[in-house]
Amino acid sequence: MTKLKWGMIGGGEGSQIGPAHRLGSGLDGLFEFTAGALDHRAAEGIEYGQRLGLGNRAYGSWQDMLAGESAREDRIDLVTVATPNSTHFEITKAFLEAGFHVLCEKPMTMTVAEGEEIVRVAEKSGKICAVNYGYTGYSLVRHMKAMIARGDIGKVRLVNAEFAHGHHADAADADNPRVRWRYDPAQAGVSAQFADCGIHAMHMASFVTGQEVTKLSADTVSCLEMRVLEDDAMVNFRMDGGTVGRLWTSSIAIGRQHGLGIQVFGETGGLRWSQEQPNQLYYMPLGGRLQVIERGEANLSPEADRTTRVTIGHAEGMPLAFANIYKDLAEAISARKEGREMDPAANLYPRAEDGLRSMAAVVAVAESGKQDGAWLDARPPMFQ
Ligand code: NAI
Repeated sequence: MTKLKWGMIGGGEGSQIGPAHRLGSGLDGLFEFTAGALDHRAAEGIEYGQRLGLGNRAYGSWQDMLAGESAREDRIDLVTVATPNSTHFEITKAFLEAGFHVLCEKPMTMTVAEGEEIVRVAEKSGKICAVNYGYTGYSLVRHMKAMIARGDIGKVRLVNAEFAHGHHADAADADNPRVRWRYDPAQAGVSAQFADCGIHAMHMASFVTGQEVTKLSADTVSCLEMRVLEDDAMVNFRMDGGTVGRLWTSSIAIGRQHGLGIQVFGETGGLRWSQEQPNQLYYMPLGGRLQVIERGEANLSPEADRTTRVTIGHAEGMPLAFANIYKDLAEAISARKEGREMDPAANLYPRAEDGLRSMAAVVAVAESGKQDGAWLDARPPMFQ
């Protein structure tokens, strides 16, 4: 099988998320890093791209890359958009319209209207528009989803999700340009911490339960007084299958490092997983004993088995979770090229619809926070 051709926009030298995408896309030998517009500074982007082996397919801007790749017969099969948030909409839309499959970083857009537009454009173009809720790529998160779907914990009653870290807690650091923009409405939109981290936790609640969020009530605060946007939020929500949701997200929780975790409680059991120990899933059957499920155990579920590589007892981490999103996308793209059905266990990559739902939740959280926790519809108008 020939490798699929992959390109990236953003993710330049020194960026936070670029290396995880390069590692993830290359890990299984399914994609070849072929083209990129990696930096907002043209010369630096070309120079870095050439150093990474892109030759004359290292472009100075995403517009040049769009023109250059559109004109080629051997154009890239997938482009990842890993630029700052406010640029996602324009770039993703342009590449979809030109007939490219896209993996867009989260948050997919800055507004609900833009999110709906991306969903429409993706549908019209017939191209894949995936959104990088990369933590859903973890093998044991997929197993958790499979266990819930096959009834191992019975009907789900309650989900408790967290994404709370302490990296913006230092008041002395709050004016640092690297931190300040995140809490500036002009650059970040209506929400800071929930839009940055909370949406990962909320999407994961939907991913593992197979239910969508319908309404929510939020208590949002700026613990550092000079901040306009929230650095901490507690969100209560309800899901369309009747599940009750609780979510805490924070950037001032000193001592917490990454802080993404999820617990799901059903009528006959409970499950617990944390991003910082992703190789273990805790399962408690009602009336039984607490069990530790290890990543890499044989025959867990088709979804878990296809997303594990290293033998049991050796840790897999975040770039390998991203690699599973790329593995799904490679399967989806190859199946289309070959005119066959894709492996259902691979059909789990987050979609533009998920990105849109997150945007509607972001707006509802910000508005509910302003209205002292009023319960608001959290669904995008398109899905109401
Ligand atoms: P960053 O600021 O560290 O890097 C951004 C990169 O994009 C830089 O190399 C910059 O030169 C480049 N860039 C900016 N504008 C560009 C343009 N118009 N054309 C080409 N390149 C451009 O940002 P970071 O932290 O890497 O975040 C990027 C995106 O990834 C954000 O949307 C963020 O929310 C998302 N992210 C997602 C994570 C996940 O777990 N899915 C984790 C961290 C970030």
